[in-house]
Amino acid sequence: MKAKDTAILLLAAGKGTRMRSELAKVLHRAGGLSLVEHVVRACQALKPIQLLVVIGHQAEEVSAVVTALGAQTVVQQPQRGTGHAMQVARRAIRKSAKFAIVVPGDAPLLRTETLAALLDTHRRGEAAATILTAELNDPTDYGRILRDSEGRVQAIVEEKSATPEQRAIREVNSSIYCFTLTKLWPCLNALRPENAHRELYLTDVIGLLRQQNERVLAYVAPDSQEILGCNTRGALADVDRIFRARKAAELMESGVTIYLPETVVIDPEVTAGPDTIVEPGVQLLGKTRIGARCKIGTGCILLDSRIDDEAVIAAYSVLDSCRVWPKAKIGPFSRLRPGSDIREGAHVGGFVEIKKSVIHEGAKVPHLSYIGDATIGRDSNIGAGTITCNYDGFAKYPTTIGEGVFIGSDTALVAPVRVGRGAYVAAGSTITENVPADALAIARGRQANKPGWAATRRKELARAGKLKSSKRRTSRSRSKRAKSKRRR
Ligand code: UD1
Ligand code: CA
Repeated sequence: MKAKDTAILLLAAGKGTRMRSELAKVLHRAGGLSLVEHVVRACQALKPIQLLVVIGHQAEEVSAVVTALGAQTVVQQPQRGTGHAMQVARRAIRKSAKFAIVVPGDAPLLRTETLAALLDTHRRGEAAATILTAELNDPTDYGRILRDSEGRVQAIVEEKSATPEQRAIREVNSSIYCFTLTKLWPCLNALRPENAHRELYLTDVIGLLRQQNERVLAYVAPDSQEILGCNTRGALADVDRIFRARKAAELMESGVTIYLPETVVIDPEVTAGPDTIVEPGVQLLGKTRIGARCKIGTGCILLDSRIDDEAVIAAYSVLDSCRVWPKAKIGPFSRLRPGSDIREGAHVGGFVEIKKSVIHEGAKVPHLSYIGDATIGRDSNIGAGTITCNYDGFAKYPTTIGEGVFIGSDTALVAPVRVGRGAYVAAGSTITENVPADALAIARGRQANKPGWAATRRKELARAGKLKSSKRRTSRSRSKRAKSKRRR
């Protein structure tokens, strides 16, 4: 799509009072992006000669977002309405522009195809203005389209100034228009702030053009959802739900199974291969890429991570910026922090946290461990409760475990430390020195059994009358016998 004679003006200067927020309305997020980012993307895909964003409220923040996407900005300060925003934009519009498409910053569901169809209707109809309209079941809050007996657009009336009969009209103004600039400019100068908000309304331009017998057309959006604006938190939630449904539908279309798709949250850039299964309540965020035939269990949250074919991420696992190779198994209840690299067929199990570590092919960390700044060699087995002590309060140190190593349960590996290939570490060890290949390391106090010690102690306590009644039956019955002996 290309629009060589058309500029796009994006109106994004307003505060969005009805959001009741410190944050400018267009910076609120729905469907994984800020509202204005969605709109800028849809506009840029039309390839206009210029995309000019009118900013005002939180100008710096909004400018940072839109200029990063290749748009230009112009500041409207103070903000005196949508008509005033256009007056301000005028000086920054390229002279070569014949048409201008106007888009509000709070209509994020808009599609490029719809903008193209609007422009096409405008050109073919040789109109002064063409309005994108939509039929809504609930038109509350929108400007209504007034048509004459022959169906020609006459004017737009805002909700606040509308009569009860006009409020019953279901065709609404989307705030998305196409104008022929030579016709628009004189009308902008004629706007007056005669309304509830004492603002200059761009909508009044339509009535003015009609009074001058100019052609005004309406293009009715084929999908009325596309024009939904986000004035309130309720509308924001509605729009977010629609985005999430669109994305889930797109993935299902491409061969992904999603159970209860209304419960999953998937960001726009996420990809997933065919026959991957996504269970209810999953969040796939940022630039997450999932291969084919994977399984993502209930409640998992994956951010900016890459999951290769046939990997399984079991329920309630949280992954941030990591890589999981083919056929690896994660979870349930695993936490993989940035830099976790879980190689082919490796296994990370329940209540295990991994950070900046490579778990090589076939290695297992099945239960209750913390593995940080470590390398674990192929086919090694890390026992339950193993901890890499990677931090001494000042700096972080590495732990290196070779291939085929067996680390017994509840081992503390005090880094920096190495365990050579094929070595064993006995359960409960605190390893502070390197372990050579094929050796057994035992680093714990030697066990001493003292025969009869416990029985003797109980007797002493009983004699002193200090034995608590909650003792095991054997000891209680013994002490009872002792007492009765004494009485006799
Ligand atoms: C506007 C339309 C209404 C339409 C609705 C569709 C007017 C008067 N009304 O109402 O007919 O049905 O959109 O969603 O235009 N903005 C500025 N500068 C300003 C004021 C607003 O840049 O001085 C920007 C806002 O940031 C926003 C857009 O213009 O992105 C629309 O403003 P908003 O206040 O949301 O208009 P609505 O009341 O929704
Ligand atoms: Ca709005």
